[in-house]
Formats: sequence, C-alpha cells, structure tokens
Amino acid sequence: MKLAVVGGGSTYTPELVDGFGRLRDQLPIDELALVDVEERRLALVGGMAQRMFARVDHPGKVTLHRDVAAGVADADVVLLQLRVGGQDARQGDETFPHEAGVLGQETTGPGGFAKALRTVPVVLEVAEQIRRHAKPDAWIVDFTNPVGIVTRALLEAGHRAVGLCNVAIGFQRRFARLLDVDHRDVRLDHVGLNHLTWELGVRVGEREVLGDLLTTHLGALASEVELPAELLTMLRSVPSYYLRYYYAHDEVLREQLRSATRAEAVREVEHKLLELYADPHVDTKPELLEKRGGAYYSEAAVDLIASLLSDARDVQVVNLRNDGSLPFLPDDHVIEVPATITADGPVAIELPALSPISRASSRTSRATSDSRSTPPSTAAATGCCTPCSPIRSSGSGTAPSSSPTSSSPGTGSTSRGH
Ligand code: G6P
Ligand code: MN
Repeated sequence: MKLAVVGGGSTYTPELVDGFGRLRDQLPIDELALVDVEERRLALVGGMAQRMFARVDHPGKVTLHRDVAAGVADADVVLLQLRVGGQDARQGDETFPHEAGVLGQETTGPGGFAKALRTVPVVLEVAEQIRRHAKPDAWIVDFTNPVGIVTRALLEAGHRAVGLCNVAIGFQRRFARLLDVDHRDVRLDHVGLNHLTWELGVRVGEREVLGDLLTTHLGALASEVELPAELLTMLRSVPSYYLRYYYAHDEVLREQLRSATRAEAVREVEHKLLELYADPHVDTKPELLEKRGGAYYSEAAVDLIASLLSDARDVQVVNLRNDGSLPFLPDDHVIEVPATITADGPVAIELPALSPISRASSRTSRATSDSRSTPPSTAAATGCCTPCSPIRSSGSGTAPSSSPTSSSPGTGSTSRGH
C-alpha cells in the first residue's frame, strides 16, 4: 500500500510516522511518500521519518518528493496536511479580526474563513494531481484546516475525500481514562460541524455514561474545555474546546489582546523540533511534539484508512456530506459525526436530536463560513441555552444527569489547537 502525505514536511509528520510504525499490523505500508514544496523541511522531516521507520524495522520505504504528481503517483491513499502561507499567514488570521473587536483563530470566525479562502484553491489543485496520478479509487483524507470547508470543496469537486480531526478521538481517549475502560469500548454521540461540536452522549457498550461523567468528573471536563462547569451542566453535554471561542468570546479576545499568538508559540516549537529532526541520532518522536495540537492524529488516520481499505464497517467520527443527517442544514454541507466506514466511504449513523441552541450555533457558524455574520457573542451563546436532551431515536440511551462536583484539571491548553 502506498500512502502519500502532502504537507509531509510538517513538523507534525513524526506523529503520523510513529503511529504508522506502532500500528503497522493494522495498516501495512509499503511506501510512505512525503510531499512538500519546502526543501529544507522535507529533508529534515524526511530524514527523521526514515530513521523512525528503520528503528522499528518497518519494511516500508519513506520517499521524499517536491513534486506533487510524482509523490502521489499510484498512491492508494493521500493525506492532506498542508498549511498555505505557513505560520506567517496564521499570524494574520489570529490578529486581523482584532481590529473589528472579534477574536482571531485559524479555523473559526473570520480568521478561519480567511484560511479557507487561501487554502481551498491550493487543495483543489493538489486534488487534481491526485485524480490524475494516484490510483483511480484512491482516498483523500483531509486534515487540512478548516477541515469542514476544505472537505466540502473536495466533495463538491467530485473527489473521494473524508475529513478528519482529532477532537473526537481526544474525547474518546479522555473519557476512557476517566472511566477506566478500553477506549475501543467508548462510543461518542459527537455532533456538529468541524470545530463546532458537542458530545451529546457517551456509551460504553449499551450503557449511557455521559450523565455519570458529568456528575463525577465535571470539574475536570470543564477545565479541559476551559468553559464554566455550569455551562456543561446546563447543556448536559461536553462542548468541544473550540466552542470556547463562541461561548467565551469576549474573555478569549481579552486574553488574546494581552498575550502572544498561537502562531508565535508554534513557530518557536517548530524551530526546536526541526533542530531535533536534524540530529541524526534522534529516531523517536520527541516529547516536545506534545506541545502541538496533534495528539492521536496517527491513531485517527490509521483507524480511518484501515477501515476504508478493508470495508471494516466500524464506527468512527469523520467529516462527510450532511445528506439529511442534520435536517436543518443543507444536504451538501459537511458535518462531523460518527459514521460507519465502508469501502465506498463513510455513512453517517442515526444521530441524537440537537437542542435548539446547538442547531442555531451550527447555522450561525455556517453563515460565518459564508462571511455573512460573526460568531455569537458570549452573552448570546450562554444566555439562552435550552438544555440539550440527547434523545436517541433508537438504542438504549438515557438522558444524562447533571449534578456538579469538581475534579482535577485536564490535559492543559498546550496540547491542543488554538
Ligand atoms: C488540533 C485541531 C487541529 C489543529 C491543531 C492545531 O489538533 O484539531 O485542527 O490544526 O489542533 O495545533 P497547533 O499546534 O498548530 O496549534
Ligand atoms: Mn481539527
């Protein structure tokens, strides 16, 4: 199997390579083709990837390409993880909205829309090369942000694409640790748009456990998503930490105005990571990579690709065409929900009902993506919450309870996207 990674010179790549090494039984790779326009990064990250494969005696070879057509030639799967304009462009996305009194973020609000505008044309060009040179039924797995919009553009252009983010898998692993169960036994009712999602239910086997989680670990969960515990109690769900940019807009804006941007922080981490990758003795994923937001990306990628290629029909959270799953959104919009992964692509499973506020937020965000409005303010978002009732139209779920207690803090903000 040939797997190509466009944007392979990203400092994130060793996270993927580490997973491809550990999970090689699940996903046997003959060739890992790293494709990047930046020669220096490609050489440093590529060398590191080769050493990492050699260290674990991986039978696959790692090849390096500056030319997209050559890199994706005959690939079975292509991962897209490019960042058009690098951290400099991100710096702009994270600051220009401040002039209008709006927070700056690279995947949501005006910053996210700006990123979409410069990213979609490039991704579509790359996808054309994939159409021409990769295997005819090759899958595109899109990590490129903003994942919802980029995946929609790919699907509208007729590509075999699935969008992927690590927010859901992060919650799955976190809940498994809190519940002391195997993460494979944890199923999420994860519903929304990319980076605008809520965990409306958590099941272990047939047992609905979100209520218990919100009772026994409320403090930990609230601090993890950096939102007030009362909000989680009121919503009876766990919002993605990206929803802080909406629920706590004004607070985040104040924080942003007095601190360095995430782009600046990432630039520094990247500099140090590239120094490590340049060291011929370094052949394992550095701990420093945990300072980036990519936790569990390799697991998510391996799980998805393995299931697409083997028609596994297991359930994973992905970005796919709505097609009526969320009836209040148009069919051609891309949503992020659990889906059965088949060889013909993901098929959304039946979803729990969304509360009016979640529906309204999703619609407002869609309008933001279309550049017609701004994200809801803190007051608007927190002031009119109708509690979410995760009513399953099938299955054995019960509505979660909501008594607050406190607990220890979560993973900390450095390990996630900002
Ligand atoms: C998380 C998000 C990604 C985002 C990343 C940013 O993984 O799901 O969509 O790109 O964080 O991480 P960074 O280290 O670049 O801030
Ligand atoms: Mn993401």
